[in-house]
Amino acid sequence: MATSHHATTPRLRLLALALLAGLPALGGCRQKMADQPYYRPLEQADFFEDKRASRPIERGTVHRAQYLESDPIATGLTQEEWDRTYEYNVPAKPDQFVALEGEKLKRAVGAPRYDQRKAGEPKVYVEEYPFPITQADLKRGEERYTIYCAVCHGPQGNGQGKIWERGYLIPTSFHTQKVDAKEADVKNPQGLGISRGYSLWGQTIPMDQAPVGYYFEVITKGYGGMPSYSAQIPPDDRWRIIAHVRRLQFTQRAPGGKK
Ligand code: HEC
Repeated sequence: MATSHHATTPRLRLLALALLAGLPALGGCRQKMADQPYYRPLEQADFFEDKRASRPIERGTVHRAQYLESDPIATGLTQEEWDRTYEYNVPAKPDQFVALEGEKLKRAVGAPRYDQRKAGEPKVYVEEYPFPITQADLKRGEERYTIYCAVCHGPQGNGQGKIWERGYLIPTSFHTQKVDAKEADVKNPQGLGISRGYSLWGQTIPMDQAPVGYYFEVITKGYGGMPSYSAQIPPDDRWRIIAHVRRLQFTQRAPGGKK
């Protein structure tokens, strides 16, 4: 036994030496980013005139945690739907949020499971704008629509924007009739102007009858081939855009309009 003891000790020592030699090298691997200067919350900073390290949020910053807000202005959902879906009651402590599973998790997708036009069906989406829409709002809505939506949905909302000409998925028309005689025929299994989102849940609802809150949710979260616009468009402007879409729909339906 004594021989094996003598044999292992030098080997152990070598190992220890190797480890020690390796340590500084490991230290050298530490990234410089870990050592950059930083301020703790509310710490004083001499760099700024008001000495506040925590800077006020810039005007117009788009709030990224909108899903934490239960106000219909930021969700498009009725308060009841919000409660049903997220079981969101302002918790006494932040760690009191309940993890969702099963049926509750399915609801949390926020999709239109009900035909809220039918009496007795629970209302999922708000049907009214959360603030009165003025002429100025409509004007801004038109402008924002032209910037953010027209490329795909077309200036008239018939889904004939420029983007799909290059192979993108053709968006749903917001109208149940062709707006333009030259409009390309779109093979839409649901029918022209029928909401695809609602069809997924077995509801046949023309886009001009889909509640404004549904539009809001689509703009906010995206839907299918359409990306989310919550980072680019603040909630108020989303409502204004919807008001403009409604105007587009109305002007196409209005009796006695130009053929
Ligand atoms: C990049 C192209 C693109 C842009 C930009 C875009 N959309 Fe869409 N949108 C689509 C596509 C494509 C669909 C259909 C998605 C699908 O069927 O998977 C769609 C679907 C929708 C729907 C749901 C229709 C349904 O069938 O239920 C609404 C509402 C909608 N868009 C509104 C808007 C509004 C408002 C804007 C501007 C803020 C906008 N979209 C911007 C491509 C776009």
